[in-house]
Amino acid sequence: MSDDKLLVVKDLTTTFATAGGDLAAVAGVSFDLERNETLGIVGESGSGKTVLSRTIMGLQPRVNTTVTGSSIIDGFEVVGASENEKRTIWGTEVAMVFQDPMTSLNPVMRIGKQIDEALRVRLGMNRKDAKARAIELLELVGIPSPVQRYNAYPGQLSGGMRQRVVIAIALACSPKLLMADEPTTGLDVTIQAQILNLLDELKERLEMSVILVTHDLGVVATRTSRIVVMYAGRIVETGTTRDVFYHHRMPYTRALLESSPKVSNKSHTRLITIPGRPPNLLNLSDGCSFAPRCKYATDQCHLVRPELQPSVEPGHSFACWNPLPVNAEATLP
Ligand SMILES: Nc1ncnc2c1ncn2[C@@H]1O[C@H](COP(=O)(O)OP(=O)(O)O)[C@@H](O)[C@H]1O
Ligand SMILES: [Mg+2]
Repeated sequence: MSDDKLLVVKDLTTTFATAGGDLAAVAGVSFDLERNETLGIVGESGSGKTVLSRTIMGLQPRVNTTVTGSSIIDGFEVVGASENEKRTIWGTEVAMVFQDPMTSLNPVMRIGKQIDEALRVRLGMNRKDAKARAIELLELVGIPSPVQRYNAYPGQLSGGMRQRVVIAIALACSPKLLMADEPTTGLDVTIQAQILNLLDELKERLEMSVILVTHDLGVVATRTSRIVVMYAGRIVETGTTRDVFYHHRMPYTRALLESSPKVSNKSHTRLITIPGRPPNLLNLSDGCSFAPRCKYATDQCHLVRPELQPSVEPGHSFACWNPLPVNAEATLP
């Protein structure tokens, strides 16, 4: 029953009117999310992950942007809703953690006050209750000496601690869905693991669903139940995490896996590079967007775009005219 789903995304499309013409950063994306599920959205830089995440929440810029399709969060249709209507779900139904904590934190405001503000504005708490709850939240996200840290400025904290504060703010109103967009990119590998573990732990404790958005397949390997693979604004493969890692059919998914930094590799920060250049979204062909970079591409691939089609495992689908064989096994990152 689709009523049980926390999130149902259907044919979601986000188009920006740019000087060079219309640019569809997200094109016809459909997927859904169960309650208490962690889903990974992966893809190389520029594939549309951030625009998709923001569009799902209704956070896209209002000027020069057209959104069609549907994004229903716990029964609330985000597409077409007014800012005022969306404010009723922001924080309480869905909250977002961005890549760079410095862009979501106010550098000249004490961190405790920033959490207080979320509680007072969104939940109407009084000053005293908000402060007590803020300290609780700092403790919940594993910030040592929360009473003292309440008075710290963002600049006095390490990157990992700042990201914990951002997570505390996101959790302030107990959202059912937490969207984490590259939450650990730029953090050192030990801190990265700590933050990801924290998200796992919070998901269980608070019975949330989490969407983990990343260019790094190593991040989602052990932490998600299903994965959506994006390329040029579209889903090109989706399935259980296991199917995407071990039974992927789309050559781009294979390329992503092969170019992922090894989980065992300490430096874990190298950016994905797949041979060839990402497509120019203003000048897409009618064929498969990955064809120009794909060693299996045929004439058909350049001319006609493949739709998602089912693979052998339930819920596993891929968009490719010349898929890898069913028994394809990849080296894991
Ligand atoms: N406001 C905007 N106007 C025009 N193009 C945009 C805008 N925001 C994003 N884009 C383009 O949309 C594409 C997808 O971007 P993004 O979602 O940020 O990718 P990812 O998060 O996967 O790295 C990119 O080509 C980017 O340049
Ligand atoms: Mg992004």
